[in-house]
Amino acid sequence: MRHEILEKNIGLMALMMVLAVSIGGLTQIVPLFFQDVTNEPVAGLKPYTALQLEGRDIYIREGCVGCHSQMIRPFRAETERYGHYSVAGESVYDHPFLWGSKRTGPDLARVGGRYSDEWHRAHLYNPRNVVPESKMPAYPWLVESTLDGQHTPAKMKALRMLGVPYSDEDIAGAASAVKGKSEMDAMVAYLQVLGIAVKNKR
Ligand code: HEC
Repeated sequence: MRHEILEKNIGLMALMMVLAVSIGGLTQIVPLFFQDVTNEPVAGLKPYTALQLEGRDIYIREGCVGCHSQMIRPFRAETERYGHYSVAGESVYDHPFLWGSKRTGPDLARVGGRYSDEWHRAHLYNPRNVVPESKMPAYPWLVESTLDGQHTPAKMKALRMLGVPYSDEDIAGAASAVKGKSEMDAMVAYLQVLGIAVKNKR
């Protein structure tokens, strides 16, 4: 019996199991690379402006992703709290993704527009100013550090190579759009755009 050969040979069985599992995985994963619903930006999604992009880089530098996910799962408990679940088409301009997996703080995928700019400034300067019981660290230096925009055009060019549709004008104007702004300005600009392409549709 052919099946008996398989069952009595652990090496062969392990090999066949790996094969069976990877076929299952591949048939689920590979088509995603070719489907519009996962590849195409959702309607209304805009590439980050120069200032938002710098804000995103500061978000990465400060490790915000270590406490905040940007991925709302399609469960009622999540959608009632955070809004529409995240869709792949919202992240097509994100290199790298900041979906995260750790939620010490709330998910931020749709935080854009939830609070005023002033709320964010006060909160980032010292979270206890607005949320007395907060465990989030304070980031007061964001107010003092100023951006010079020196590397912003190069960052945008790199992203353009990865498919983000920046125009030559976007890139040419990037340094002056950022120069002199504080890191706080950039961070707030970034936070305020999170998730709004889908949020505004509802
Ligand atoms: C040590 C974990 C931790 C880190 C690191 C952290 N946060 Fe938080 N964050 C929290 C917690 C806990 C809350 C909930 C309490 C509060 O609102 O302050 C929160 C709340 C927030 C909120 C309000 C979300 C809402 O829907 O009410 C924003 C916005 C936010 N954080 C942004 C950031 C940014 C930007 C950074 C990086 C500069 C950051 N956080 C870093 C833990 C963290």
